[in-house]
Amino acid sequence: MNDAALDGLYRAIADGSTALLLADEHCVTVPAATQLRVLSNRVDVAERMTQVGLDCTLNDFDLSEFSGIERIYYRVSKEKPLVHHCINQALALLPLGGQLVLAGDKGDGIKTYYDKARTLVGADKSLDKSKGSAYIGRIQKRTAPTALLDDSHYRELQRIADAPALFSKPGVYGWKKIDRGSALLIDALESLSLPGSESILDLGCGYGYLSVLAHASLPEARIVATDNNIAATTACSHNFQLHGIAGEVLPADCGHGIESRFDLVLCNPPFHKGFDVHGDLTRAFLESAAKRLKPGGLALFVVNQFIALEQRAEGLFARCERVAEGGGFKVFLLS
Ligand SMILES: C[S@@+](CC[C@H](N)C(=O)[O-])C[C@H]1O[C@@H](n2cnc3c(N)ncnc32)[C@H](O)[C@@H]1O
Repeated sequence: MNDAALDGLYRAIADGSTALLLADEHCVTVPAATQLRVLSNRVDVAERMTQVGLDCTLNDFDLSEFSGIERIYYRVSKEKPLVHHCINQALALLPLGGQLVLAGDKGDGIKTYYDKARTLVGADKSLDKSKGSAYIGRIQKRTAPTALLDDSHYRELQRIADAPALFSKPGVYGWKKIDRGSALLIDALESLSLPGSESILDLGCGYGYLSVLAHASLPEARIVATDNNIAATTACSHNFQLHGIAGEVLPADCGHGIESRFDLVLCNPPFHKGFDVHGDLTRAFLESAAKRLKPGGLALFVVNQFIALEQRAEGLFARCERVAEGGGFKVFLLS
């Protein structure tokens, strides 16, 4: 899907080593710049930027290691606490006279973000339509920020559930909730009682719900959890420590680079309704699962009711059996 806001932002970039692009999951393409520095929270985005020679840092949008930055470019993210966090950090980092360029779609709330941000540093209004409902706004920092936007304590891990205790943080997929599909997958895992599951891969782990619950029913299993989002792997690592889970948490794009083979793969693949800019992510996750299973290994996938998983799994698995459904989700056992 074409992102007019991102295209508009990339066109506005004045290249140079004092310019910084904050690149989240929207950045499925690369800008035509060579000196620009980039900060991303996503492994796949960071790899894309590095491949074209850009100097890209991978972390959970911690701008504290940057200095000498005079222009910051940011296509606003989907989640409000993350957008507020990035705006707060950007406005604090820039010198007086420095510029924050914000882009986004009307539906993203760009006009509100722009007005809030510009008010904090006394900037004149300079917001233009770039294409369709996409806007681009320039904010010149005139004063130190007079306040901070509410970022829901973006940097902090927060307890979101008891029994079992789970920690999460803003910036993680559905960070405050337990995904109903994932809960259905865990019910299925418990009722199937799969023997011999000594090693488990949690593919697209988020804050680690599937790993923590799988550990409760298979406490001897070694678990590797992976996600492309650094906010997610940070929270998941904390939950691994808290529950004494043997294994590791690895940042990776779709599990790429993980060489081990597993008895069991657990996965609730990402899906962006109406925003599937990544192509067929479900197929990519199925391919990754198939590659990382030992011979005879099993995978449990949960997807939305309307995703034809059977079709997408064709040619990858010998068996694909629907083992549970409910609440708009279906769970499949693949072997
Ligand atoms: C539907 S969520 C499931 C999260 C978690 N397993 C749970 O049950 O709560 C999908 C996860 O896939 C991750 N993800 C998206 N694209 C990815 C990619 N290319 N590689 C690895 N993980 C990805 C997202 O960050 C998100 O945490």
